[in-house]
Amino acid sequence: MMSVYIVRGKNRVAGTLAVHGAKNAVLPILAAATICGDCVIHNCPDLTDVAVAMDILGHLGCDARREGSTIITTASSGGDWRIPDGLMKAMRSSVVFLGGMIARHGEGEISLPGGCELGSRPVDLHLFALERLGAQVEEGEGKLRCKAPNGLHGAKIEFPFPSVGATENAIIAAVTARGDTQITGGAREPEIADLITFLQGCGAKIHLTIDGVIHIQGVERLHGCEHTVIADRIAAGTYLCAAAITGGEVLLTGLTPGHVLTALAYLSNAGCVVRTSLNSIWLKAPDRLKELGIIRTQPYPGFPTDMQAVMMATAMGADGTSVFVENIFDSRFRHVEELRKLGADISTQGKTAVVSGVECLHGADLCCTDLRGGAAVVLGAMAAEGASTVRELSHIDRGYERFAENLTQLGVDIKEE
Ligand code: EPZ
Repeated sequence: MMSVYIVRGKNRVAGTLAVHGAKNAVLPILAAATICGDCVIHNCPDLTDVAVAMDILGHLGCDARREGSTIITTASSGGDWRIPDGLMKAMRSSVVFLGGMIARHGEGEISLPGGCELGSRPVDLHLFALERLGAQVEEGEGKLRCKAPNGLHGAKIEFPFPSVGATENAIIAAVTARGDTQITGGAREPEIADLITFLQGCGAKIHLTIDGVIHIQGVERLHGCEHTVIADRIAAGTYLCAAAITGGEVLLTGLTPGHVLTALAYLSNAGCVVRTSLNSIWLKAPDRLKELGIIRTQPYPGFPTDMQAVMMATAMGADGTSVFVENIFDSRFRHVEELRKLGADISTQGKTAVVSGVECLHGADLCCTDLRGGAAVVLGAMAAEGASTVRELSHIDRGYERFAENLTQLGVDIKEE
């Protein structure tokens, strides 16, 4: 029987929380570990997506074992150059392993990562970059086969859209390619800077210019390194919204406030008091938030699409109308139906959602629709009168470490049954 959360609303969040390591930094770093020496990677959150990535590493010939929040990778010789369908289905972002597979084995094969809850998830930009670096790509029977029999070579890669995963694949494939690579128009998320820092620690020659151009000089081979992963800015934003939606206050530690600046700006404009230090954020919310204004999701440093759902939940009870425009994914409003069950007044038209704040929300029987949508419905239940049930928790386990325990520690009445 799948467990559920029982959430009793209206407790105000209060307390301090250390933010766990960033899922979206650990995953590309583990993908890069396939072409490095032995590595010790600290601050790795214990998440199902990270566990799948470790299984994939093992399959590709790079042993990965966990000691607390540290993952130790041991790149042995051999291993497969294909990711089994089961592991691909378990985590569609496994496409980010492709660059390392080709660099290590001269070829890589994955099953076409189908769409997911966020809509179609094409990989054309990944393949564009890998082909520029000398890979030959074949598609057939639901598989993607990439071969580079003569190895990969440096190239100029100009991305028409700053895809996070495609940028990561290009970097991983280029660091041991023959010659120099220049990547323009790539994504600039902090998780990519963290991947670059990790690879530099392993001896890669990467230079990131102020305007986001990535210069890479291919090296023969990479050694290992010890690295500490950055904090998860999306998890941080989720806990800030937990305080905002309950009129509470929270001190988050162990993170870089500069990574959540846009979210902080909206919460501050909605009436929250925000104080930051080098590695902490303190937020105190008013009893009732003002409207959030218009939130347009954009590539970093714009408002992150991964915070759209939790910020929409935060807007449900605000005093006024908030508008959300989802510019990154073609179907990222699946949580709206669930939030409406709590009494929210949300109308959607294409990529726009209009949230008219209501005075009162009531408990309901809710379902997690995807990772961030799941967090949003839990936050909504925390602000509702009475009890709510939240189902399909496996979505949350993919990206939030100890979610119910952390919320309990912050004073929320949430039980897993
Ligand atoms: C990463 O996904 C994150 N996942 C996502 O976080 C995040 O939402 C996304 O970046 C945007 O910030 C990981 O890092 C593991 P993209 P990714 O390539 O790399 C289109 C979460 O909640 N696109 O930047 O898959 C794509 O369809 C997850 O933690 C192409 O058209 O995102 C989407 O509309 C969800 N062709 C947009 O670009 C491509 O080849 C952004 O995708 C690749 C992407």
